Amino acid sequence: MGIIVLDFGGQYAHLIANRIRRLHVFAEIRSPNSAVADLADAEGLILSGGPSSVYDADAPAYNPEILEMDKPMLGLCYGHQLLCHRLGGQVEPGNAHEFGAAYLQVKEAKGVLAGLDEREMVWMSHRDQVTALPPGFEILAATEDCPIAAMGHAERKIYGLQFHPEVTHSVRGMQMLDNFVALTGAARDWTMEQYIEHTMDRVREQTKGRKVFLLVSGGVDSSVAFLLLNNALGEDRVLGLHIDNGFMRKGETALVERLMKDSGFANLQVVDATDEFLKITEGLSEPEAKRLAIGEEFLRVRDRALVDLQLDPEEWLLGQGTLYTDTIESGGTENAALIKTHHNRVGVIEELLAEGKVVEPLDQLYKDEARELGEKLGLPHHLVWRHPFPGPGLAVRALCSDGKADMDGMAPVEAEAVKVAAKYGLALEVLPLRSVGVQGDSRTYAHPAVVSGKSDWETLEALSTELTNNFASINRVIYLLGSDDRPAQKLKAGYLTRDRLDLLREVDAINMEALERHGLMQEVTQMPTVLVPLSSDGVQESVVLRPISTDDFMTARFSQLPQEFLDDVRERILAVEGIEAVFYDVTHKPPGTVEWE
Ligand code: XMP
Repeated sequence: MGIIVLDFGGQYAHLIANRIRRLHVFAEIRSPNSAVADLADAEGLILSGGPSSVYDADAPAYNPEILEMDKPMLGLCYGHQLLCHRLGGQVEPGNAHEFGAAYLQVKEAKGVLAGLDEREMVWMSHRDQVTALPPGFEILAATEDCPIAAMGHAERKIYGLQFHPEVTHSVRGMQMLDNFVALTGAARDWTMEQYIEHTMDRVREQTKGRKVFLLVSGGVDSSVAFLLLNNALGEDRVLGLHIDNGFMRKGETALVERLMKDSGFANLQVVDATDEFLKITEGLSEPEAKRLAIGEEFLRVRDRALVDLQLDPEEWLLGQGTLYTDTIESGGTENAALIKTHHNRVGVIEELLAEGKVVEPLDQLYKDEARELGEKLGLPHHLVWRHPFPGPGLAVRALCSDGKADMDGMAPVEAEAVKVAAKYGLALEVLPLRSVGVQGDSRTYAHPAVVSGKSDWETLEALSTELTNNFASINRVIYLLGSDDRPAQKLKAGYLTRDRLDLLREVDAINMEALERHGLMQEVTQMPTVLVPLSSDGVQESVVLRPISTDDFMTARFSQLPQEFLDDVRERILAVEGIEAVFYDVTHKPPGTVEWE
């Protein structure tokens, strides 16, 4: 059946399964609390990393019988420590905590370390470490600060690695995972076609003759899910509903309708629920409050549509195009922290999930895999490769405020930060609003700093990193485009109103058109346009461009776009009535997230 990854809450746990699938072996993530019977078909088990210590009272619960199973096992980081702890060795707090690059001294190039050189670069992130081996194990490798960085029991085929072979910075990490796969004997016959078959079977099994009602936003994920469900269950057991929530891009709803019609399926309904969504978010400014209100309204509109269409809710399950990354960032895997609640992970949906009433055919996949699946299912290439757009849409890109500056205790921070920026020849101001970020596997909600003056990407990157590393209350840095412009930094009141959304829609359309025209669509993975209620006259607003590049969305770099593009969009945006200043986000993820909310 392949390899099962037991998720102990590491932010990179899902990467392990993605990597194993790249080796053409089927891999799925499961809870460490799984019953032994549910894992019986697996050819090998991988225990992921996680943020806990094995001695923590709140360490992730797991089923100890799993570790007694007669199967090849590979423990990574926390998984390595847990294997050791459970099998009779010793785990203690390390003298030196290791984060980042480390050099592995390979003592025995065998088992999962077969074929490696004596010295290999690996990626570490740990505090505790293994100090005594369990009986029957031998040391395979060490680093300078970690004498038991790899251990193994050749006969039982159990291995533990203190580092993370799943991240690309561990240079020969794929070779190590490949070695593990080889010793499990798992068949290397996994292909996307097989995944489609497997998923269609899973959907048929879960639905047990019932039907699926799916919200289709028009993005890659929900479109792929819609096609897959149509193929698995047939057109009369699937109904797609596109809700225009008023937070869509310019012309989006018409485009979705046309694309779905072109793909040959007629079972898509469209409702315009703009008024309802604007009403439910009226007066809200806190990002999580906005996200929750929108997520719940999606369900209310869905329920109303069920009534209007006279569909029996007992017969119709909810379908979603959730990917694995949505689940983990919402803290929705058992052991991970909440970064932001994705619209498909609000409380009501969690309840439906617990009752088995949600069908999520892509829930094990990454964006790159969902796209591959889309191509295989015959979605048009340009739809498959469109930039992702979040479910709550422009609502999380139009920052809201009651107009009261939120700067308690910020004066001394700003004074220090100004000195740092001055070293780089730039002026700095801390903005009187906040945005969401992610640091050390946890959510932050802190201030952006705006820097201005003549500069270059290298300087801005260094300054941004120095500021966010040194000031806990600054989690984002933006650069004022136009070195002679003045940053508009006075906060004004602004909520999710039709006017502001129209303004943002207009600017977003300008940016997307310019990206296309300058041939930058592929280079940039995504470019949110953010509307911030900052102004010098209390009337106009400002705009932030947030172009990033990333493979997996868990980490991202800000894009360094050419000057001609910047000059072009700045000029066009400033020509829009109501926009006063244009900024460019120069923050990586972490410490920033892609979206501001
Ligand atoms: P963040 O802001 O968490 O974004 O760094 C990572 C990716 O997720 C997208 N995103 C969402 N997608 N529903 C979605 O379907 C959501 O609620 C949501 N929030 C963020 C974001 O656009 C980026 O691609």
